[in-house]
Amino acid sequence: MGKFKGFWSFLSEQGRDLPLPRELVDGKTLVLTGANVGLGIEASTHFANKKPSLLIATCRDTVKCEQTLEVLRKRCTGTQPSSLDSWPLELSSFDNVRSFVDRFGAEGPERLNILVANAGTFTPVYARTQDNWEVILQVNYLSIALLSILLLPHLLRSATSDDPSRLVLVSSLGHYLAGPMLTGSQNWDHVLGAINAENFGVSGASRYNLSKLLQVAFVRELSARLPSPTPLVVTTVDPGFCHSSLQRELEKYWLLRMVLGFVKWLLRARTSEMGSRNLVYAALATNAQAMHGKYMSSCEVVEECDYLLSAEGKAFSERLWGETIEVLSNVDGRVSQIVSSYLPAR
Ligand SMILES: NC(=O)c1ccc[n+]([C@@H]2O[C@H](COP(=O)([O-])OP(=O)(O)OC[C@H]3O[C@@H](n4cnc5c(N)ncnc54)[C@H](OP(=O)(O)O)[C@@H]3O)[C@@H](O)[C@H]2O)c1
Repeated sequence: MGKFKGFWSFLSEQGRDLPLPRELVDGKTLVLTGANVGLGIEASTHFANKKPSLLIATCRDTVKCEQTLEVLRKRCTGTQPSSLDSWPLELSSFDNVRSFVDRFGAEGPERLNILVANAGTFTPVYARTQDNWEVILQVNYLSIALLSILLLPHLLRSATSDDPSRLVLVSSLGHYLAGPMLTGSQNWDHVLGAINAENFGVSGASRYNLSKLLQVAFVRELSARLPSPTPLVVTTVDPGFCHSSLQRELEKYWLLRMVLGFVKWLLRARTSEMGSRNLVYAALATNAQAMHGKYMSSCEVVEECDYLLSAEGKAFSERLWGETIEVLSNVDGRVSQIVSSYLPAR
């Protein structure tokens, strides 16, 4: 989809049939977060049909895990049931992320080849998690950064010279709208602290868009710290505007449900399955090194928002990286060890 090139161009992209990579994932272990509905269940189905050694599809609780596993086993009858599993992972809690990683270390296989950080939330109301971070900021950014860093040693260990591991963060076209929120951020004492405040951002939508910009900035910084050619290909993807449960908080109100239904029709919302192809493509397409550190849309590398490409945006990203590592190191001591062992300063 790329930068907004006008309404008609956007509509034509929305209606485009996206490619589905032919590559299999045989012998590989994958973790995909937010697997019970929307893009997550569709991407999980694609991966499950590609003969994984093990697909761990995460959901927020054990009931959703059991339901998801049942759906996947019904949809993917040609796949060994033992190749599919579902583990709980609740991203609004750092402890939960740490427990998931501990479990992976204790019970998981040696290898982790692909991590798709798909889970994401949108809520119109400002609320804080038990860790005292604004919900969208923690779920869509901080916990995903924590999960990615704590699983980094597993991903790096599993890479071979001709088959790098993959880390895919699911971002959004909405990140293009978030740059102006960061104007003047060089004068803020603490970027994450400022974004966390209740008086920051005019709406849930603006906080959501900003969380997606933070993901793109994180991927740019993380990728720049990995060696070249990289053993771990890191990308962000925009799945396009899709039908899913993402706006469920708004769809509780019948009037908003009708308005959203009309907007989805007008903007030719993709099915969740079509949107999920973006995730599968970023995780499997063979031109991996060319995708490293990049933002993708409609299965193509496209430019990030102007803000992140500007000198101010680059300084912001570097500062964000530093603060993120500092915050997450206080959550889990392994973060600073991993960063100093594998991610030297640029
Ligand atoms: N749909 C679009 O138009 C669109 C556009 C751009 C980007 N995206 C991104 O695509 C990704 C998938 O979204 P979707 O559209 O498929 O929405 P969705 O149907 O609402 O799926 C979101 C998934 O994330 C999970 N999740 C939400 N909060 C979580 C938490 N605190 N901890 C762990 N998991 C949590 C959900 O679990 P529960 O069901 O249990 O809450 C669900 O599995 C998101 O990152 C979203 O931002 C979507």
